[in-house]
Amino acid sequence: MQTSTTTSRLERAFDPKRFRRVGHELIDLLADHLDAMQDGRSEKVIPYRTPAEELSFWQQDFRQQSSPGDFFRKVLEHSIDVHHPRCIGHQVSAPAFIGGLAGLLSDILNNGTGVYEMGMASNALERVLTEFVAQNIGYDESAAGFLTSGGTLANLTALLAARKAKAGTAVWEEGHSERLAVMVSEEAHYCVDRAARILGMGSDGIIKVPVDDHFRIRIDLLEQYKQQAERKGLKVISIIGCAGSTATGSYDDLSAMAEFSRTHNLWFHIDGAHGGGVIFSERYQHLAQGIQEADTVVIDFHKTLLTPALNTALIFKNGTDSYKTFEQRAQYLWDAQREPEWYHSGKRTFECTKLMLSIKVYAILTTYGPEIFGENIDRLYGLATSFADLIRNREDFELLIEPEGNIVNYRYVNAPLEKLDELNSKVRQHLMESGQFYIVQTLFDGQRYLRSAIMNPLTRESDLQALLDTIAQTAQLILQPSLTS
Ligand SMILES: Cc1ncc(COP(=O)(O)O)c(C=O)c1O
Repeated sequence: MQTSTTTSRLERAFDPKRFRRVGHELIDLLADHLDAMQDGRSEKVIPYRTPAEELSFWQQDFRQQSSPGDFFRKVLEHSIDVHHPRCIGHQVSAPAFIGGLAGLLSDILNNGTGVYEMGMASNALERVLTEFVAQNIGYDESAAGFLTSGGTLANLTALLAARKAKAGTAVWEEGHSERLAVMVSEEAHYCVDRAARILGMGSDGIIKVPVDDHFRIRIDLLEQYKQQAERKGLKVISIIGCAGSTATGSYDDLSAMAEFSRTHNLWFHIDGAHGGGVIFSERYQHLAQGIQEADTVVIDFHKTLLTPALNTALIFKNGTDSYKTFEQRAQYLWDAQREPEWYHSGKRTFECTKLMLSIKVYAILTTYGPEIFGENIDRLYGLATSFADLIRNREDFELLIEPEGNIVNYRYVNAPLEKLDELNSKVRQHLMESGQFYIVQTLFDGQRYLRSAIMNPLTRESDLQALLDTIAQTAQLILQPSLTS
């Protein structure tokens, strides 16, 4: 009895007819949902519930049986919509739909990709794509790289490569006895700090260099900070540039950092997870001037490049360096670890089983043409400039800095100074709970600012105008509670 039930469950789980029916149902559901968002019928960006409410809903749901269609509908009804034009918060792409369809294909194929046979197409496509990225960076033919699961992992991998190159070739077998350190802007993403600590560098080993008024690393302090570190007995192996930074989207002066790293024989790494995509835009590529001088560059496709998360390129100026990072033997996977076999992608990445990352990026580029990346950057960065103009022209708002990229920081200021922090926080919470807009918040110099990363090309200037109006109205309601009663 037990056996036949199990068999019939497994049969149903692998029934192609059922897959076709449920698949069509899901695509119809998603298409209707996305349609409603684009023609303005879907008013809410986020159907906000507290964590306790959300958990209780799913705990109850788990006790019932539901059809896949019902389950998919419930997930949609309980999720934030990154395609909503008024979703203007975190740095996650609104993926081009073809990228999602390619994701479905890759999930069903489930090619492990770490070794060639388990990902023939995905490994070859990965090579095509990384060469395409390398060319756009401005590297010559000796460059090479791979795709990996996210900027965090890619930055860690790049720093491992830096350690291998600058702390002695035996470091993989013997560890390191010297106290190693890396230099980076104090605005760098926290994953760089984590990576340095994972590599055993400790707090002293992550040298955070102050930034200027535009949140760019202070080039004039590099020499001094390096010398201070050396006096403490540290060996600086790398300098890391932000292109752009997480909080403000600011781009460090990469050319000046390249010169500094050349002078001191450091590994120059660029964290372009967020803003490295400017290499595809004629209008904005100047922001990353000097990028081609880096030893390694990280670029997330799942941020400004329309791809579902996670999907990141790590490109090495000198491709042979990419094979030196990990020198473990894995005899059941491949024979010769030291051979630069590009088609065994696991030789160069942390992942063993790896998603078919290249499929999604390739589908986007070949369906719409490679220009689509540059067009998206132009659209997002252009919208951020328009948004900054709208803010600057209002007396009830303050703009933190002129945005270089697609991240804008601002706050409502038509209230007593001592109330601004709490007021801006409450406004954001209200906007989120009502579902009208999704924006985030951050602190600068201990002061609360609202923060919008414009990630969605479907956002219009009218949405940004409406956002400011809604913030102002909400702030006034909060300041005068009698108006709400
Ligand atoms: C500059 C920068 N680097 C790295 C990361 C981490 O990337 P991921 O979320 O892909 O791991 C982020 C994420 O926002 C970032 O902004």
